[in-house]
Amino acid sequence: MFLGILVTQAIMFTVKDLRQKYLDFFKSKGHIIVPSASLLPENDPTTLFTGSGMQPMVPYLLGAQHPLGTRIVDSQKCFRSQDIDDVGDNRHTVFFEMLGNWSLGDYFKKEQIAWMWEFLTNELNLDPRRLYFTCFRGNTDLGIPRDSESAELWTKHFKTVGIEAAIIDFPERDGMKDGRIFYYDETKNWWSRAGVPGNMPLGEPGGPDTEMFWDFGEELGLHEKSVHAKKPCHVNCDCGRFLEIGNNVFMQYKKTPHGFEQLPQKNVDFGGGLERLAAAVNGNPDIFLIDLFATMRHVLVGLSGKKYGTNEKETYAYRVIMDHLRAATFLVNDGALPSNKDQGYFTRRLIRRSVRFAHKLGILNNFCGQVVEAVIAEYGDHYAELVTQKDFILAQIHTEEEKFRKTLAQGLKIFEERTAKLQSGDIIAGVLAFDLYQSYGFPIEVIDELARERGLYVDRVGFEKAYAEHKAKSRVGAEQKFAGGLADHSEISTQYHTATHLLHATLLRILGPHATQRGSNITQERMRFDFNHPLKMTPEEIKQAEDLVNAAIAHDYLVSWAEMSFEEAQAKGAIGLFEDKYQSKVKVYTVGDINAKALADPSSPTYSREVCGGPHVEHTGTLGHFRIIKEEAVSAGVRRIKAVLE
Ligand code: ALA
Repeated sequence: MFLGILVTQAIMFTVKDLRQKYLDFFKSKGHIIVPSASLLPENDPTTLFTGSGMQPMVPYLLGAQHPLGTRIVDSQKCFRSQDIDDVGDNRHTVFFEMLGNWSLGDYFKKEQIAWMWEFLTNELNLDPRRLYFTCFRGNTDLGIPRDSESAELWTKHFKTVGIEAAIIDFPERDGMKDGRIFYYDETKNWWSRAGVPGNMPLGEPGGPDTEMFWDFGEELGLHEKSVHAKKPCHVNCDCGRFLEIGNNVFMQYKKTPHGFEQLPQKNVDFGGGLERLAAAVNGNPDIFLIDLFATMRHVLVGLSGKKYGTNEKETYAYRVIMDHLRAATFLVNDGALPSNKDQGYFTRRLIRRSVRFAHKLGILNNFCGQVVEAVIAEYGDHYAELVTQKDFILAQIHTEEEKFRKTLAQGLKIFEERTAKLQSGDIIAGVLAFDLYQSYGFPIEVIDELARERGLYVDRVGFEKAYAEHKAKSRVGAEQKFAGGLADHSEISTQYHTATHLLHATLLRILGPHATQRGSNITQERMRFDFNHPLKMTPEEIKQAEDLVNAAIAHDYLVSWAEMSFEEAQAKGAIGLFEDKYQSKVKVYTVGDINAKALADPSSPTYSREVCGGPHVEHTGTLGHFRIIKEEAVSAGVRRIKAVLE
């Protein structure tokens, strides 16, 4: 019976048709069609990307007059970077188009719900038996009443097609109970740019919403999934049977210091995922099977020789590549060129991630251009600038692909080698992660993923520390370079830098070989040193550390450096070797006898030997008096010392 419905409902229209149908439908209801705004918001410092259709509309929702009137409709390009880790399943994408219609103080619930019903059941010919709706339960603490008006309006529309739609409270606790309309709290049925009411800044508009769900059918068998072992299936659960296809927000409140107040006007903000609606029309929960992705899929099949949908891992890779390269195409088009910061970093990450996933499909040569061409061919009609900018977009993406491909294979090899001995649950040192990032161009999120695939974790705190340390080092270098003869400030940094080596060597002596560096930060006023140690240092240990560093200063060791091979440095007892293992020569600083082996033994003529770019003082005697001002925890197993030279 259900399968029969699936077949009859598969009315063949394309995503392009669907977009046009929506725009035309709301045009027929007195709306003005406006083009999509850029993915990079103008005049909105709160966010890097346009992630919903309403963002460009905020001033008008708050009461400013829209030049085109009170009824607006569009299809807005959206980018949601926060969804990147969910991409790979059958419904998440970082880029999507959001169909949107707005009442700016014009119509409200009655009209919006009637038009949505008409659009879904008449225009798209969706079977009402597969439609479900959710409404806001109300919250007395917030002073926001239950939205029974919306619930009753949906019930009324169901009645017109002979369906008695029960309204159910607490479906997350009690299950669906054969209902069609469900009440949820503000975590599900409230919308603002900041999310739930508690997260909204003062002045932010928001309101209760009513969401629309499509049921792909019990026959998918998803109700038997383990997610339901403890909790019943309901439209907002994660099993994949139901897909949210649209959200009607009744944007009527503003957060103030005294709670929620009515905005000067009652607005409607509707947002519906174009691709998700197409999946519902298509009768298949996999949105990557809608016609929009057909050419992209085809290109990848040709390149990889693998079929989409036969193997779970490969299908995952397909989805990541199609989603990411589509997003990168639009991001570059809107001006987010691949780079190391801000919006451009996301473009870089998307392209590099695509290249890595293509590797998994056995695609080892440049391929992004072909997928990007398929994206442009698909979207060119509606987004004409993609066609005019085509060469530029292709060139940008090609350059980025080329850059990453140069280091990808080597980086992957190093990752494999250096994690070969680790076992599931082990932690990858932050310094290794930083090396992959710095020398091989792996975005940290990609390193995280590589780790997860092997059941490992990246020490992100250690990574951040290594990053900060690298920045501090480059700063010291830059200061020296630019300060010229007036380098007295960087002299202080240099002294702290040498003191850091002394402290590091000292901690390894006192606490043991596990007490290795996790991070370091130097200012004109103090040094900060993070290291592995599970316990708070005792006052005796702190005193001992101070005494040993001061003794090393008093000894007035010579500080010198030499370049040597990794193996030689290792043989000579150098620490900090993780950083430059894969360079042919490493620069090694020695405090004390340059010929002797550095030992943790206090009688060793070499106090410290460490791989380091420098610079350092020439004699430890110039450092003054070393004093620890603080010893504290940074995270589990990591301690921090702050110290000064006086
Ligand atoms: N602004 C609402 C959303 O993004 C429609 O879901």
